[in-house]
Amino acid sequence: MPNRLDLPAGFRWGVSTASYQIEGAVEEDGRGPSIWDTFAARPGAVRDGHTGAVACDHYHRYAEDVALMQGLGLDGYRFSIAWPRIQPTGAGPANPAGLDFYDRLVDALLTAGITPLPTLFHWDLPQALEDGGGWLARDTAYRFAEYTAVVADRLGDRVPAWITLNEPFVHMVYGYALGIHAPGRALMLDALPAAHHQLLGHGLAASVLRERGLDVMIANNLTPVRPASSSEADRAAAAAYDALHNRLFTDPILLGHYPDLSAFGVGPDLGGSVRDGDLELIAATPLDGLGVNYYNPTRIAAPTDPALPFTEAPIEGVPRTAFDWPVVPDGLRELLTGLRDRYGAALPPVTITENGCSVADEPAADGTVADPDRIAYLAGHLDALAAAVAEGVDVRGYFTWSLLDNFEWAQGFSQRFGLVHVDFETQRRTPKASYGWYRDLIAAHRGRSDG
Ligand code: FCB
Repeated sequence: MPNRLDLPAGFRWGVSTASYQIEGAVEEDGRGPSIWDTFAARPGAVRDGHTGAVACDHYHRYAEDVALMQGLGLDGYRFSIAWPRIQPTGAGPANPAGLDFYDRLVDALLTAGITPLPTLFHWDLPQALEDGGGWLARDTAYRFAEYTAVVADRLGDRVPAWITLNEPFVHMVYGYALGIHAPGRALMLDALPAAHHQLLGHGLAASVLRERGLDVMIANNLTPVRPASSSEADRAAAAAYDALHNRLFTDPILLGHYPDLSAFGVGPDLGGSVRDGDLELIAATPLDGLGVNYYNPTRIAAPTDPALPFTEAPIEGVPRTAFDWPVVPDGLRELLTGLRDRYGAALPPVTITENGCSVADEPAADGTVADPDRIAYLAGHLDALAAAVAEGVDVRGYFTWSLLDNFEWAQGFSQRFGLVHVDFETQRRTPKASYGWYRDLIAAHRGRSDG
């Protein structure tokens, strides 16, 4: 069996974060309000009333955080750019102070020998755009492309590859269909235009990046879907769920068409939002890499509620994270070989842009943080990744979620995903045991491939 040290030479090691989850400083240097500021202020929306107003204070402590990354020996850092820092109302001229922050961050990373990998949209939409309909409005896609041009013109001389969107599936479902994330709309299937407009925004932004000679990626949340049994009804339900979760956000980009959503009673125009030429535009700029965010597989059974063509079934008999997510490392191998089988030559090289787990970590009396569950999670998933590579899938890198404990959306600060523990009272950073483990793995892999 291949293991993580067998990953190919030149394999890129990284960590991931997102702006609203770590930056804080929400009212500084001209940043406009985002939908997450609005949503977190709504009573009951976020656990314990937490908000990202301070978060990890990364806006002020980025130099310390880059030093932590340098200590890991990383090749790359995936972070996101807060659109409301760049265009406080989501349109119009750039806010120079907002651009300056990311300029400083990029330079600090390059000095540390780390390649920046920015995500342009990781859910913190300017509130002013939400007031105009958010991603339900077609105009937001065009605003996204304008914002992309502003940022790329400033940083493109030093940043070779860009991720347009983070997890458009989760943003649509949690933000627009179920209302458990910002902007808190609960539209069920009427949320589908938010899928199409995000994908249109991706296509428009991708051509802006490509015109500037930059590489284009997207980070999709993908999950291998397992039918609860071999019955026809369970398998049909699993196929319907797979179309919604996986294919809806990947087929149009790689294949130029939407999957069949007829099980949802939805036609190919996605609730009337698709116009002539849109699909050509979404697929026009081939991806240089597909970002895959993987946490766990999904088990699906025939529907119990007539409103949806599937029901989610629990995965039994496996360990669970503090978030109660099942731990199934081999699901990553299954996902990656499944992508290769599904898309064949249309699949670009893959980078794992998120993978990690929450653990209820607290420092011991001597100040150290032991997190053996996280080390086991990461080791298992990296071995599964190496197995997928041995089976012929072209995977170029792995960015773990996350560098720091941070603001975990609707869960506030209750879910700790970091390699580095953060005391949210004092902002003290303490590398956990997994930090040392990851550093040593990166060094061992590099030593082996150099030697
Ligand atoms: C993903 C998000 C990321 C983080 C992890 C745990 O869905 O992209 O911001 O919250 O989950």
